[in-house]
Amino acid sequence: MKKVLLFLLTFTLSLFAISNESKICQKCHPTIYNEYYQSSHRKASVINNPIHKAYWEKHPKDENGYTCAKCHSPSDKEVMKTGVLTDNDIQKHEPISCVFCHTIKNVDEGSLSNTNISTGKHKEFFSADKTKKGTKVAKFETESSWFGLVKTSKNSPYHKIDYNNENYYNGNVCMGCHSHTNNEHGFDIVMLDALIKKDDKNTCISCHMPQVPGSKVTLAESKTHAYHGISGIFHRNQDMGQYIDFNVSKEEKGFTVDIHNQANHALFGQALRQGVLKASIERNRKEIVLEPFIFTRILAKDGKEAMPWNATGTLKDTLLYEEKKIHFNESLQKGDTLTLTLGVQLLTEKGAKALGLEDNEEVKKFRIMKSEKIKF
Ligand code: HEC
Ligand code: HEC
Ligand code: HEC
Ligand code: HEC
Ligand code: HEC
Repeated sequence: MKKVLLFLLTFTLSLFAISNESKICQKCHPTIYNEYYQSSHRKASVINNPIHKAYWEKHPKDENGYTCAKCHSPSDKEVMKTGVLTDNDIQKHEPISCVFCHTIKNVDEGSLSNTNISTGKHKEFFSADKTKKGTKVAKFETESSWFGLVKTSKNSPYHKIDYNNENYYNGNVCMGCHSHTNNEHGFDIVMLDALIKKDDKNTCISCHMPQVPGSKVTLAESKTHAYHGISGIFHRNQDMGQYIDFNVSKEEKGFTVDIHNQANHALFGQALRQGVLKASIERNRKEIVLEPFIFTRILAKDGKEAMPWNATGTLKDTLLYEEKKIHFNESLQKGDTLTLTLGVQLLTEKGAKALGLEDNEEVKKFRIMKSEKIKF
């Protein structure tokens, strides 16, 4: 009886697969699905992201069509094949689907951008679990004991799991899309500058998909699961502050903030984006607000500011790479309390204007990552 039910369940789930595969996963992985639905991966398409839409509309078009699909909606097989963008369910609900990420076999390195190589399998997924590394592909198993009175099962009745792909342990699974995005002039317009090293304490996954409370699946209880909303600019952003250290040194004239970035990549490197370090001093119950420091990259062509697709270089690059010393002229006095606040804004003022998004409040919002008070 149980077998029949299971067969029926798998069968109806298979029918579902044709329209929206991630919805099937929701049945057994509801917490992960709900997080994913709020993530920038689900929102990476033209339909779901107003910045992406504005940018694509301004972008010059050629016979290759919507090439952005390679990273922004690889699950939409039609646009991947034809380059013709349509308004459809995949673009809306799963432009980068659960199955897409969990079947990336390898990443091929390329000069303009890398390429994800998929297994093409729909019911066998890669995952990482150190305790199961080295075991063979996990299939659904049931066992009866107590003369058939007690039945236990293990693994998933819907799919197999392969725990042996190193890319899911070291973060390389993210690098098919996040390594570099060069424009046709060979200039990298997303300066993440990421480098995965063997002795890294943290990985893309441990920092951006940390284990958070809640079971990863309904059929078996686990205390935690990997956060699929993606910790970063939109979610759990104040948690990300733990990877940034401030070190302040008082000087004769003013003071210097030494910022150390523990991430294995540059911060604020997305085209038209900016980071902001705000500083203020509380002195004798009055607040002195200092001129903020802006982290950004101004893209240029022939020495003039240019849109990302035309850029061949930069006019200015004040991004936060591994370390940055920022000097403020105001001298610190005994009794002062210095407040440092580091945050990010999706678009610079000029960028918002260039994209016609100057009235969109979301893109101008200051999103705090870290705030620290230091007494002198
Ligand atoms: C019928 C229920 C069911 C459905 C539907 C289902 N899963 Fe699972 N999944 C499970 C179970 C049970 C496990 C095993 C958990 C364990 O062994 O700890 C699992 C485990 C996983 C794992 C590995 C977790 C780990 O332990 O590291 C991944 C990845 C995964 N599923 C992805 C998916 C994706 C993607 C989909 C949708 C295409 C999906 N699952 C649909 C039940 C399901
Ligand atoms: C090689 C993969 C890749 C390709 C191809 C690609 N992008 Fe992206 N894009 C990314 C990644 C990864 C991010 C996120 C980077 C980040 O946040 O630092 C991103 C972010 C963006 C953003 C910022 C979104 C936001 O909400 O701030 C815009 C806009 C954008 N891309 C537009 C485009 C357009 C338009 C195209 C096609 C002409 C394109 N991209 C092609 C990988 C790619
Ligand atoms: C951007 C790529 C990406 C997307 C999209 C994605 N996952 Fe994952 N998923 C990962 C990575 C990376 C891990 C962590 C390594 C691991 O355990 O597999 C993970 C872990 C898991 C796990 C194991 C949880 C744990 O705590 O180890 C399950 C189950 C899972 N994903 C299911 C899903 C489902 C269901 C969806 C869609 C709703 C989905 N994933 C979408 C990349 C992705
Ligand atoms: C199929 C391509 C693809 C893969 C694989 C992928 N990403 Fe992304 N990611 C994107 C795109 C595209 C965006 C930008 C979406 C937008 O805003 O339009 C993005 C945005 C992000 C952002 C910035 C926005 C935020 O929510 O803070 C982070 C962080 C991120 N991804 C982390 C990861 C990690 C970690 C992995 C690996 C587990 C991963 N991504 C795998 C394409 C991908
Ligand atoms: C030590 C922790 C750490 C590691 C490891 C890490 N990141 Fe990050 N990442 C951060 C922090 C902190 C931010 C800034 C978050 C914010 O803006 O709220 C960030 C921001 C990002 C952004 C948004 C950048 C922007 O300005 O648009 C992307 C995309 C991203 N990370 C992807 C990755 C990828 C891919 C990897 C693996 C190569 C990775 N990260 C490894 C901590 C980490």
